[in-house]
Amino acid sequence: MRLDRLLSSTGRWSRKEASALIRRGEVTIDGKVEKDPAAKVDEVSQTAAVAGEPVIYRKFVYVMLNKPEGFVSSTDEPGERVVTELLSKDYERLSLFPCGRLDKNTTGLLILTNDGQTAHRLLSPKHHAEKTYRYTLKYPLGENERLELEAGVDLETGVHTLPCRIMPDSPTSGAITLTEGKFHQIKLMAKSVRNAITSLERVSFAGIGLDPALARGEYRELTNEEIRLLTGGDN
Ligand code: URA
Repeated sequence: MRLDRLLSSTGRWSRKEASALIRRGEVTIDGKVEKDPAAKVDEVSQTAAVAGEPVIYRKFVYVMLNKPEGFVSSTDEPGERVVTELLSKDYERLSLFPCGRLDKNTTGLLILTNDGQTAHRLLSPKHHAEKTYRYTLKYPLGENERLELEAGVDLETGVHTLPCRIMPDSPTSGAITLTEGKFHQIKLMAKSVRNAITSLERVSFAGIGLDPALARGEYRELTNEEIRLLTGGDN
């Protein structure tokens, strides 16, 4: 690939900034200064470096965000604060977008990526990616209601929900695992049994758990192992 493209794939420099760096003689390929931004570099067998620091090529970037309340799961929504605002400038250049949506007042695990194919696969209804949420309810959840919700209920939107797992840890709180993600699903499920969600936090998505070291609004890149879980080893 072109040397300027390799540099800009990191998000640290725009293509223009990368070209300028290269022309100034600040970039090497395998230790030799290369001043042509269009020079070809093999990202696997060769090492490009800026001021001696190797540049690691990543085809796609995957970020885990602990979403705070008040942010919309979007890249641009007039009049709203969007989750991508929480990321640094470097990530802005990489055009990351949220893989799925959490409601504005839902907190917790949101994956952002620029890997459209993986996002599409994970969000496909056929994929049944597991999502676990911690919930609190306004009223105690009876055993019959829990079984009803687990078996599947009719939402006011006309949707019939798939079977799910509910693991209460008190009459008004616990964890729920879904294999689908219909609009406002958990809130509407609670409503269908005459209850109401008072807080909702996603704690895992497709086998990846929310990192407890991340405070609300903080994020980190996924580890290689987490990327493998997400992509099935495709990337
Ligand atoms: N269910 C909801 O009702 N809201 C969310 O944000 C996620 C699941």
